[in-house]
Formats: sequence, C-alpha cells, structure tokens
Amino acid sequence: MFDGMDTPDVLAWRDGHIEALDQTALPHQVRVLRITTVDELIKAITTLAVRGAPLLGAVGALGVALAIRQGDAEDWDGARLDAEVKRIADARPTAVNLRREVAAVAACIPQGRQAVEAAALAVVDFAVTASHQISRRGAAYLRDACGGGPLRVHTHCNTGSLACLGWGTALGVIRALHADGALSHVIVDETRPLLQGARLTCWELDQLGIEHRLACDGAAPFLISQGLADAVVVGADRVAANGDVANKIGTYGLALAAHRAGIPFLVAAPESTLDEATPSGSAIPIEQRADAEVCVPAAPAGTRALNYAFDITPAELVSAIVTEERLLTRLPGKTSSVLGRPLEAELALGVGEPAGAVDSDGHIRRVGHDDEGARPECLASVAARVPDERPGQALPPGLRVGLDMLVPGVSVARVEQPELGEQPPAGEGAEPRPAPRLREPPPGCRPAFQVIARLARAEAAQAQIG
Ligand code: MRU
Repeated sequence: MFDGMDTPDVLAWRDGHIEALDQTALPHQVRVLRITTVDELIKAITTLAVRGAPLLGAVGALGVALAIRQGDAEDWDGARLDAEVKRIADARPTAVNLRREVAAVAACIPQGRQAVEAAALAVVDFAVTASHQISRRGAAYLRDACGGGPLRVHTHCNTGSLACLGWGTALGVIRALHADGALSHVIVDETRPLLQGARLTCWELDQLGIEHRLACDGAAPFLISQGLADAVVVGADRVAANGDVANKIGTYGLALAAHRAGIPFLVAAPESTLDEATPSGSAIPIEQRADAEVCVPAAPAGTRALNYAFDITPAELVSAIVTEERLLTRLPGKTSSVLGRPLEAELALGVGEPAGAVDSDGHIRRVGHDDEGARPECLASVAARVPDERPGQALPPGLRVGLDMLVPGVSVARVEQPELGEQPPAGEGAEPRPAPRLREPPPGCRPAFQVIARLARAEAAQAQIG
C-alpha cells in the first residue's frame, strides 16, 4: 500500500514554504512542488497542480503565511500584502473554500506571523479531521439509504486525499464503505477535460486496493439507468443557501440520472463548502477555462470551446448533503436516521433557480459569475481571444521541473520549483507503465459487474493479439 498519500505529501508547510504534490503529473509521475512565492502558488492553483475545494482552502490558508514571509523578505507595505492575499483568494472563483480560508487566516495578520502560521496549519489539520467525519457519516447514510449488501457506487471527478487531505469527501465515503466491507466496487467517471477521475481517482483507488471501473462521462447516465449503481456520491465546490450544489462539470447529469433511477444522490463536503452568503446556484461563479483543454488534440485548429469547469445541481435533485457536523437529508419518506436535521430547516431550502440555460433564441443565460469579462452572455457575443491568456489555462509545453519519481513510489522526490509553468503534460517523459492488471471481481458482486469484467478481459485479449 502506498502511504505517500498521507497529508504531508499532498500538502505541507516546511521551512517557511509550501510543498504540494503536483497533481498535473499524476498518475505517471509523483513529484512534490516546492512553492516559495505567491506567483508560484497562483500558478500551482490555476494549473490545477493543487486542486479540489478543501485542498484549495488549505493551500490558500498556507498561502497567507507564505505571502507574509515573502513580504518580510521583500519589504512589502500593508497595501501590497493585502493585494497579494487577495490574488490568492481570487485565483479560482467557484470553490468557496479558497476565499473563505484565505479570509479567515488573513484576519490573523494583525497578530503577527506566528499567529498566521498557526491559523493556517490549523486549517490543514482540520481538513483531515473533517474528512474522516464526513467519510464515516456519509457511509452510514448510504448503508441506511441503500439497505444491506455491498454497494456499487458511482462517483465523479477526484474527491479523495489529493483533493481534500485525509480520506477525502465523496471518495472518503467510498473508502469508509470499503473499510466496513460494505462496498462492491466504484464506477469512476473519467471527468473530462482534465481527467481528474481517470488520472487521480483511479490512482487513489488503486493505491487503496478498491475495485473500480472507469467510465466515459457520456456513458454515466446510461450506466445509472441500467441499474449499474446503487448510489451516486460526489463532492462539492460550493453549496448555496438553498441547497443548490456546484461541482465538477458532469455532476448535474449524474444527479438527473440518479433521480430518474430512484437511487440516492449524496453530496459530501465540509461545512466550509456551504455558503449561506450565496442564495442559490444562479449566484455561484462558475469558472470557465481555456479552450485548449477541450479542443486539443482532437478539434480542428481554431475551434472554440465552452469550457465550463463546474455545473449546478438544483437542490431538488440532491438526496442528502453530508458534512463533518451533520447530515442534511431530503430523501422522500425518510427522516435521517444517522444524525440529521432536515435540509429544509438548515438551508432554508426552496426550489433552486434554474442554473444557466440556453434560451429559445440560442443565447446562454448567465449561470452566475462575478467576472463579467470572462462570461459570455450569449454565444454570439463570445469575443475572439487567444487561448491560454487567462488564469487556469492548459499547461504550456516546456521543461520538466526537477527530479521525478515514478509510480508506484513509496517515497516522493522533493524538488525545487523554479518555474511552475515549465512542466510537461502529465505522462510525458514517464516510463511506460505495465499493462493494467485485470482483477477478478470481488466475491458476491452483482452480475452486471461480472459482464463488465468479462468485456474488459475480452478487450485485453484482443489488444494482445493485435
Ligand atoms: O477543478 P477541480 O479539480 O479543482 O474540481 C474539483 C471538484 O470539482 C471536486 O469534485 C470538488 O472540489 C469537491 S471535493 C474535492
């Protein structure tokens, strides 16, 4: 078992600098970035080297401590420090954890550097604690909601240690089910365009020895409709006061499919993801990212993309939200038998305003964004722009940074990080990996899963023959 996924290797504060596992390099390379300036931190955040709502909160908290160190070294005045802290908070718009934790730690600035560092480290520690509580409570909920028997769980994006520290949120729930012997297997969406599911969730599940199969995003609703999952569990980047949930693009389709199939759709997130200041999903800013992430390598040169990184799932499609403190449930006919207070009571639930939609004249209505310049009101008004000019763009080709350790690594290379931008695309330069090992499905797994396993075996045989 790879124990390098424990918190210190995913994110750490060492010698006054941030160390973070570079998630753009996984699963082919395991390397740690040493982040020494605010510019490097922002690059790490916008390139998704560091990503996932709770981890963004934790790294943002450490970022305030980093900014103070840099400010001391470079003799910044108060206005400059404030501006740099604000840059960190604004590096990505959707996950409320980032700005929330930055603001919380920045409030300690008048008390001095030590107080700030202690507050930042407390945010990191609490993320770990919260993840365990979320995981346990979410697993108990699913066992209660789905009845006995090993569960087949569908998930999206990456919500494990890499995204959250500790056990994770949605993936933590899955891990807790597995630990309890209550999990059959996991169906993982690949999560286009940046493949957090394929690259990161499959990697984590593999390290944990948890049975899983990877599905194309487009296949997910169909798979659910065919009864291949007992429940869907996802994380969240922001939950609005009415219970609408922003999460990685593709989540909404899963929620619709789960609703139609009559299976639970569970959202697992820390309290720091619940944002009572945002009334509904339509007010949640949705990050749009570079065209190149979608268009390269398949589309003809010049193709423009609609690269919304997140979507909004209306509260009415959410069966329950589990946090480290409570279970907010609205399963029809079920009172929460685990902990719960009803969602309506907690989040002033109303029917969510519909999120962004295409009008009859083809115009795209706002989904909610605080950066007007980055959000087209309608397709016709999309101004031509050079791909990659905004933050959060595809990685430019370039030199590799420092030493790399190949998976599976027990220890992790710690590398100096002179230029975060100069990184190879994930996998480039990695040694060829051995062909994936097909495992026997676990005893007692459902027939549908056996079929998938047989198909996979047939494909593998074909590939060998070819
Ligand atoms: O763009 P990302 O990779 O930061 O998006 C992450 C997600 O959408 C996760 O599902 C979310 O943060 C919930 S828990 C990590």
